[in-house]
Amino acid sequence: MGYVLGVDLGTSAVKVLLVNRDGAVVTEAVTEYPLFQEKPGHSEQDPEDWVNGTINAIKAITNNLSDLEKIEGISFSGQMHGLVLLDEKDQPLRRAILWNDTRTTEQCREIEQKVGIDLLHTITKNPALEGFTLPKLMWVKKYEPELFNKAATFVLPKDYVRYRLTGALHMDYSDAAGTLLLNVANKTWSEEMCAKTGVPLTLCPPLVASHEKVGVLREDIAKKCGLSSHVAVFAGGADNACGAIGTGILREGVTLSSTGTSGVILSYEKDGDKEFNGRVHYFNHGEESAFYTMGVTLAAGYSLNWFKDTFAPYKSFEELVKEAEASPPGARGLLFTPYLVGERTPHADADIRGSFIGVHSGHSLGDFTRAVIEGVTFSLNETVELFREHGKTVDKIVCTGGGAKSDLWLQIQADIFNATVVKLKTEQGPGMGAAMLAAYGLGWFSSLKACSDQFIDESGQYEPSTERVAAYRDLFGIYQRVYNQTKDISADLKPYRSL
Ligand code: XUL
Repeated sequence: MGYVLGVDLGTSAVKVLLVNRDGAVVTEAVTEYPLFQEKPGHSEQDPEDWVNGTINAIKAITNNLSDLEKIEGISFSGQMHGLVLLDEKDQPLRRAILWNDTRTTEQCREIEQKVGIDLLHTITKNPALEGFTLPKLMWVKKYEPELFNKAATFVLPKDYVRYRLTGALHMDYSDAAGTLLLNVANKTWSEEMCAKTGVPLTLCPPLVASHEKVGVLREDIAKKCGLSSHVAVFAGGADNACGAIGTGILREGVTLSSTGTSGVILSYEKDGDKEFNGRVHYFNHGEESAFYTMGVTLAAGYSLNWFKDTFAPYKSFEELVKEAEASPPGARGLLFTPYLVGERTPHADADIRGSFIGVHSGHSLGDFTRAVIEGVTFSLNETVELFREHGKTVDKIVCTGGGAKSDLWLQIQADIFNATVVKLKTEQGPGMGAAMLAAYGLGWFSSLKACSDQFIDESGQYEPSTERVAAYRDLFGIYQRVYNQTKDISADLKPYRSL
């Protein structure tokens, strides 16, 4: 039986899935890499770490496989927006500036002023947010002009890895949508956005569709990975677009909740011309001619990781979550806002910071853990509510990512979202989506939908309880007040952050 590899290039690690023609994950491997946060708001990675991590993870898979020649294709899911600036020899000019780097508030205001908010929404369908790629390009142009002048092109994280594996440089539409330089409805680079913001159009790489074959592995790389150089390489997509594919969000009416480092609530859109006026992100899907809308919580799984590393490094996640189970909804009067690195939806605010409100002497570690999980879910619920306000029915939500591994978190999602929550056999949506792009690209299936019928299986459902829904509705109202009441305090504390 044939296999495909799905590479999910995340923020904390790269995960590679080996998936067979039935859609079963036969084996998987993970390689972690560092995040450099050397100044407040800065978040960078070394592209070389991604390349080595990917090769090592593939090698870990091929080392234990006897029928290697049956691996027919490979594709990628990548953390979005990260700027990889390349010189004329396609060498990175600096470390990549990531999606959760918030140094570019000044450039966001400049974009709004130079382009105008209405035109910005018409062309890019999105607001100017610190995480997106265009503000990062403008930041480098202003603060590192000597590097910017040497730039020949820019790509996004998974595009760079794919380039190193194949020698071919491309960007797919779903990831290009997150640069703020793409005309999202027309699927072309926007000359107007480039001209108005001073970014040469020549920096923009050739565009491809996510399922398109872009080449084969370079001989030397194939050897290093333990693969044949005939393995077909498909473009792949943004992690959220791949997450949508890998969880079957391929028709209107189903919603995705994904909790990786960031968290997203995402909904499929047939058309590219709906009006959300920049209140949610609006990007090209990995399925050709489709789109998706999405709200983002910057620190979702990241909040829980931070909490564990800082306050309970000696405990496992299982132990922590067990203790949180013993805490009631509302964590006995403790609220957490997950604004550890700022926020995106509904508050596009890079300066806000998180808080625990209502701490009392009786609170235990379990209460704090529960408050963190609930706070992240309240933040995601802001997008669920935004979708409902725009007339969308959100009654069934498919969950993926770390938050889909825990029964407690899945039940909390059902109760806070007031919707049926669905768990899938694999919680690795983006990696599975990448594998599906390779499977579809190889012609194993006539469409991504046909592939998802074969590859995606539900493994459980969580129903909201009337009592807990009512309690969380009240708590959500209180949670929503915290942003406005802590905004100024956060701003006043800003000068002390770097001390
Ligand atoms: C989406 C976003 C994040 C990253 C995480 O706009 O910034 O979800 O894609 O990898």
